[in-house]
Amino acid sequence: MNRLGTLERYRATLEQTPLAQDFGRLLGFNGLVIEASGPDVKIGELCEIDGHDAGQSDSSKSISAEVVGFRDGRVLLMPFANLRGVSAGARIRALRRTLRVPVSRSMIGRVLDAFGEPLDGGPAITPEGYRDIQSPPINPLCRAPLDQVLETGVRAIDGVMPIAKGQRVGVFAGSGVGKSTLLGMMARHVHADVIVVAMIGERGREVGDFLHESLGEEGLKRSVMMVATSDQSALVRTHAVHAAHAVAEFFRDQGLDVLLMLDSITRFAMAQREVGLAVGEPPTSRGYPPSVFNLLPQILERGGRLRAGGSISAIYSVLVEGDDMNEPVADHMRAILDGHVVLSRDLASRGQLPAIDLLSSVSRLTGRVADERQQLLVQRVKSIISTYETSRDLVDMGAYQAGANPALDEAIAVYPALIECLRQRPSQSSSLQETIAMLEAAVGSHMQVRV
Ligand SMILES: Nc1ncnc2c1ncn2[C@@H]1O[C@H](COP(=O)(O)OP(=O)(O)OP(=O)(O)O)[C@@H](O)[C@H]1O
Ligand SMILES: [Mg+2]
Repeated sequence: MNRLGTLERYRATLEQTPLAQDFGRLLGFNGLVIEASGPDVKIGELCEIDGHDAGQSDSSKSISAEVVGFRDGRVLLMPFANLRGVSAGARIRALRRTLRVPVSRSMIGRVLDAFGEPLDGGPAITPEGYRDIQSPPINPLCRAPLDQVLETGVRAIDGVMPIAKGQRVGVFAGSGVGKSTLLGMMARHVHADVIVVAMIGERGREVGDFLHESLGEEGLKRSVMMVATSDQSALVRTHAVHAAHAVAEFFRDQGLDVLLMLDSITRFAMAQREVGLAVGEPPTSRGYPPSVFNLLPQILERGGRLRAGGSISAIYSVLVEGDDMNEPVADHMRAILDGHVVLSRDLASRGQLPAIDLLSSVSRLTGRVADERQQLLVQRVKSIISTYETSRDLVDMGAYQAGANPALDEAIAVYPALIECLRQRPSQSSSLQETIAMLEAAVGSHMQVRV
C-alpha cells in the first residue's frame, strides 16, 4: 500500500476517534440555558464560548459558562454574562476546572464581585491563593462546641437573646422593616476579626446605601463586601453566596473569628429557583425546585467553630414576603438555623428601632452562653414584655384599673424604661456589661420572675 493510502486511513480513523473532547458547538439558547454538542465535561465545570463583541465582528471575546446539566446526550450550560455577539455553532471549550475565587488578606476593606474582582475602582486583588467556591463538609468531630458569646453591640440581642461564636442566625422581616440596617449595625460593632458581607440580588442603589449608611467607613475597614446585584445572571447571584463562604473559610482557617452576613438568603433562593427551573427541575412549593431546599442546609453547614481555632458565625437575612412567616424559604430556614431574630413592622411603625420582636425571636444557644444572672434577666424582660403586650389595648384605652393585677402594674411601671433601653441608634454600641447593667436598671433590681 502506498504512503498516501496509509495517511488517508489514519486520517479517517482520527476523525472517528473521540479525542479528549475539549470542544463542542453551541446548538441552541433559550435565553437562559445553552444546549451544546459537547465538550465532554462534568457538572460544575467551566467552559468558554467564543464570541465577538457585538457590532465588531473582528474583535473576539469569550464568555464563561458553567455546566449545569445534560439532556438527551447534550450538554446544558448557563453563561455568566450576556450572549450578545455569540452565533449558532460557536465553539465551546472545556476549561477543565470548577469556579474558584481568589483569596487574600488584602480583600479586607474592599468591595468585590462574585469572582473576587474589585467593584470599588481600587487595584486588583493580589491572591494569596485560590479556593473552590464549594467546600467539602466539615468533619463533625472537628467542630468545637458553641459556648463562647459573640458580642454584637446590639443591646436587644446581647442582653435578651445572646448568640454564640459559630452560631447561624436568621433575621426575618418583611420589606423595609430594618434587616439591612440591623446587619450594618452588627458589622460596625461586633467583636469579630473579619466580617464578610454578601449582598445578593439587591438593587445597585441599595448596595451603595448599605455601604455608605449602614456599614460606614469604620465597618468597611474590617469587612470584605461581595456583591451580586439583581441585574446579574441568576447563576452569578448564586455563586456570590458560595464565594462569600469560601472567603470566610479562608479567614477562619487562619484562626480568626469571622462574621458572615448574607443579605438576603431569600434572593439566593430565588436565583437558585431560576437556575433549577431552567435546567428542568420540577417546581414544588411556590415554584421552588428541590435543589433550593437541598442547598440551604449545605450552605448553613459551612458555618461553625473549629477545634483547631477560627469560627464562622453567620447571619442570614430572610425576606418574609407579605409578612408571611410560613413562606417556604422562611419556614425551611427557621428549621435549620440555630436562632432567629424576628423584626416586626408593628414595632418599627411605633418607632421602636431596631424593631426586634423579642417574644417571637429565639437564640437556641442562650442557655450555653448566658450565665445564671443573665438568664434570670432574660426571663424577667420577656415576662414584662409579654404581660404588657397582652394587655396593651386595655392599657392604651385607659380601661385598666391600677391594682387589679400586680404583675401588670409592675410591667406598666417598668415598660417605658425597658423599651428605652432596647431602642438603639445604628451608630451606637454597648458592651455586654453595659447592656446587662442598663437592662437590670430598667427592669428593677429585684430579679424574681413573675409569670
Ligand atoms: N435602628 C434603626 N434606627 C433608625 N432607623 C432605622 C433603624 N433600623 C431601620 N431603620 C430605618 O428603616 C428603614 C428601612 O430599613 P432597611 O433598609 O434596613 O430595611 P430592610 O428590611 O433591609 O428593607 P428591604 O426589604 O427593602 O431590604 C431605613 O430607612 C432605615 O433608616
Ligand atoms: Mg435590605
